[in-house]
Amino acid sequence: MDALEALTTRRSSPRLTTPAPSSEQLDAIIQSALRAADHALLRPSRFLLLQEQSLTKLGELFVAAELADGVDLSPEQREKILNKPLRAPTIIVAIATLQDHPKVPSIEQEYSTAAAVQCMSLAAYAQGLGSMWRTGSKAYHETVRAGLGVAAHEKIVGFLYLGTPCGPLKGLVAHTSEDHLTTWGLD
Ligand SMILES: Cc1cc2nc3c(=O)[nH]c(=O)nc-3n(C[C@H](O)[C@H](O)[C@H](O)COP(=O)(O)O)c2cc1C
Repeated sequence: MDALEALTTRRSSPRLTTPAPSSEQLDAIIQSALRAADHALLRPSRFLLLQEQSLTKLGELFVAAELADGVDLSPEQREKILNKPLRAPTIIVAIATLQDHPKVPSIEQEYSTAAAVQCMSLAAYAQGLGSMWRTGSKAYHETVRAGLGVAAHEKIVGFLYLGTPCGPLKGLVAHTSEDHLTTWGLD
């Protein structure tokens, strides 16, 4: 697939299964992330690779977050939350490591990590894999952050679920460029 085709047709795959990305595919995905725009080359992004039992441990952290909030979970609700990370064989947690910089506010460092997530999604798609960028309240919950070793000066920008799409890809919604693009200053 050429680059423009990937850029103009990428779509998310909410349902993902095995085979998981191979180590070569994962390396291309991470290399793509490292090409994200990065003001002052601060290298603000780091990534955690979760596979196999790590996914179960993430589910346990999600349940622990609910319990820490005092939520009374039924066995069915607990099972549902526990299984959320099992919706894909691989998850990459994208973390922005923020530093004080005189010219680069922390939000720009978060933008860079967000760009890295999009790059990874595109790299997955271009290799015939599927992905789904997820956050939800758990991405910001202290129990999850602490369990994953996320420091006070860091933010989880996304959980990128990766794998093989289940069934055909969803249809593409056509967008009209003119709805989002306005010329300015030519009068
Ligand atoms: C920062 C961010 C967080 C997101 N979190 C979720 C999420 O928690 N759950 C979800 O269903 N979609 C989430 N999405 C949206 C999906 O990743 C996806 O982009 C959306 O379903 C549109 O599908 P498309 O990527 O095929 O256009 C998030 C997107 C972004 C950019």
